[in-house]
Amino acid sequence: MPVTKYNIVKSSKAVKTPAYVKEIYGKIYENEKLSRFLDDERIVSLMTWGFQKRLVDDLVKEISTNSKVLQLGCTFGKQIEAVAEKIGAYGKYVIEDVCPQQLDRCRSKEIYQKISFRSHNAARSWTEKYDVVICYMLLHELPPTTKTKVINNALNSVEEGGKVIFVDYHNPSKWNLLRYLIKPFNRLYQPFAESMWKRDIETYAKDKECFLWRKKTYGGKMYQKLVAVRQIPNYEKPKAKDSFY
Ligand SMILES: C[S@@+](CC[C@H](N)C(=O)[O-])C[C@H]1O[C@@H](n2cnc3c(N)ncnc32)[C@H](O)[C@@H]1O
Repeated sequence: MPVTKYNIVKSSKAVKTPAYVKEIYGKIYENEKLSRFLDDERIVSLMTWGFQKRLVDDLVKEISTNSKVLQLGCTFGKQIEAVAEKIGAYGKYVIEDVCPQQLDRCRSKEIYQKISFRSHNAARSWTEKYDVVICYMLLHELPPTTKTKVINNALNSVEEGGKVIFVDYHNPSKWNLLRYLIKPFNRLYQPFAESMWKRDIETYAKDKECFLWRKKTYGGKMYQKLVAVRQIPNYEKPKAKDSFY
């Protein structure tokens, strides 16, 4: 179905790019040419061993039309467009990033509805609440303290019934041969990625019990989608014998 395209961008004062972004990923994120090359869906698909489409499709399924959505970090490929299309013209889509070059790259993307781009470090808390918070392939880039802050800030920004969707690396099965290829690559180029193998995302949550956690893995457990839905406080599921029938 054709959708009206109008692109209203909200600008904000740029935040300082953290050292880990500059030192480790800066060569990519601060390089406009390289970023635009990596923005190609076919390249992203290659880099994710063909799983990008499934991951994005499964992310989009979690989001309802007209919702108010916050995304932490810009991404390559069609992920942003897919989410924007699902939210529709009457929802709200906010994307925050610490890297001005990445915000600029995504501003120029073809988008289907109003997106607000903000310069903000997700490790610093915010007060606004959302129906959905997306954390797509961000956690594996973060040092431990930042990761804890980002996860808890994301969880704190949804109210009852709201959800946080984490899509990221997972500890691949022992029989997954890619495991042995990825390990040296991660150690060389993505120093914080292996922490995703060693510790489950929910163990970083300060109020883990306030959420219902649901996980799905992909590609021999190489990737995961973890959804945390905030529960209604003191809500007890009715027991079978309490049922009217
Ligand atoms: C979300 S990941 C996505 C990259 C991934 N390879 C992809 O496209 O699937 C990378 C983005 O997160 C941003 N980022 C890193 N740390 C951040 C933080 N603390 N707060 C907000 N954005 C952050 C980076 O500047 C970068 O644009």
